[in-house]
Amino acid sequence: MAWDGILRGLWLFLPAYAANMAPVFVAKIVPAWSAPMDGGRLAADGRRVLGPGKTWRGLVGGAVVGGLMAILLSFLAVPTPFVRDGDDFGRLAGASLSNTFLFGAVLGTMALVGDAVKSYFKRRRAIERGAVWFPFDQLDFVVFGLAGVFLFAWLMPTGWVAQAYLSDWVVLFTLVVLTPLLHLLVNRVGYWMGLKDVPW
Ligand code: CTP
Ligand code: MG
Repeated sequence: MAWDGILRGLWLFLPAYAANMAPVFVAKIVPAWSAPMDGGRLAADGRRVLGPGKTWRGLVGGAVVGGLMAILLSFLAVPTPFVRDGDDFGRLAGASLSNTFLFGAVLGTMALVGDAVKSYFKRRRAIERGAVWFPFDQLDFVVFGLAGVFLFAWLMPTGWVAQAYLSDWVVLFTLVVLTPLLHLLVNRVGYWMGLKDVPW
């Protein structure tokens, strides 16, 4: 049944989703640390390389939140209907706590690196910070997050990443196709709650 793959995809990517949302919250906790990743530099076209919305604070926050989320999931996993043997964020498959943290941190970091790369191309196209650029705003962190998962698969027990991500095509389908829709929904809720300045 497809529900199984959908839920599993969302579950496996929770560290990336959490990391992608983290910068907005971290900004409220440490507003003073607002150093932008581009150091304020301008590109040849006279616009900011990345813009003021991409901070080191956000990147570090995303890495930490991604790692903590992975550890949390590794403890929650067992009795959920959508987690099968070996899909439990690695703990039953023998992943150490430190590697589980690192794997989640890599996923979170890559998610926000993707977000920053997206901003680079957004600025080159003269799209202002915060303006919507569908579907790239929604997919940036998915594509880079997935790249991180496969590049750093060696942090997890042998075969775990392949089993978790590739044994059911619905998992990747969910991440690439359903995530953008979910992303738009979550941002709208964040806007209603007053956490985000714009509803996208
Ligand atoms: N943010 C941050 N550091 C990051 C990513 C995000 O501090 N590495 C914070 C910024 O306050 C940003 C907010 O999270 O404004 C929302 O993130 P995002 O939508 O990715 O940035 P935008 O402001 O929309 O910028 P852009 O147009 O470049 O995507
Ligand atoms: Mg944005």
